[in-house]
Amino acid sequence: MTIAQIMQKMIAFSDGNIHDIDHFIRVWTYARTIAQLEHLDKEMQFILEVAAITHDIACSLCREKYGNTNGKHQEEEGAGLVREFLSDTGMTKQQIERVAYLVGHHHTFIGIDGQDWQILIEADYIANASENSYSEQNVRNFMQKVMKTESARSLAAAVFGLHNRS
Ligand SMILES: [Fe+2]
Repeated sequence: MTIAQIMQKMIAFSDGNIHDIDHFIRVWTYARTIAQLEHLDKEMQFILEVAAITHDIACSLCREKYGNTNGKHQEEEGAGLVREFLSDTGMTKQQIERVAYLVGHHHTFIGIDGQDWQILIEADYIANASENSYSEQNVRNFMQKVMKTESARSLAAAVFGLHNRS
C-alpha cells in the first residue's frame, strides 16, 4: 500500500473519532516535513510516515480497557495492534517490525537509535504541545533536551513564536 492508502485505512479504523484523526494527521504532517528537510532516505521516510500515522493506534482500546491513554499501556498495546493492522498492506516483515518498535517506544526518550524514532518523538511533541497549550517553559525545555534535529527545533520555535526571545 501507499502512504495515502495506509492513511485511508487508519482513518477508517478510527471510525469517526475526529480528535484522534486530527492528531495523527498533524503528527504525520510534521514528521513528513521534518524527515524531508533532514534528507532521510526513502525507506526510512516511509517507515517514519507509517509510524506517525499509526502511533496512537491503541488510544481507543486503552480508553476502554484502562480508562485512560497512559503512555506505557499505549506503547504495549500499540505494538501488537499495529502488527495486525499492517499485516495486509504488503509491507515486509522487517518494515512492520520497525514500525511496531517505534509505536511501542513513542513515549520513550532514552535509547533512541534512529532518525525515524527521533523525528516521531519530535513531531508528536509539537502536535501535543499545540493541542494542549503546553507552557513556554515546557516547550523550551523539550527543544533543548530532547529535540535533536535542526528542522524540528526551528519548526517548534516558529509554531510557538519563540524566535525573538531564545
Ligand atoms: Fe500522539
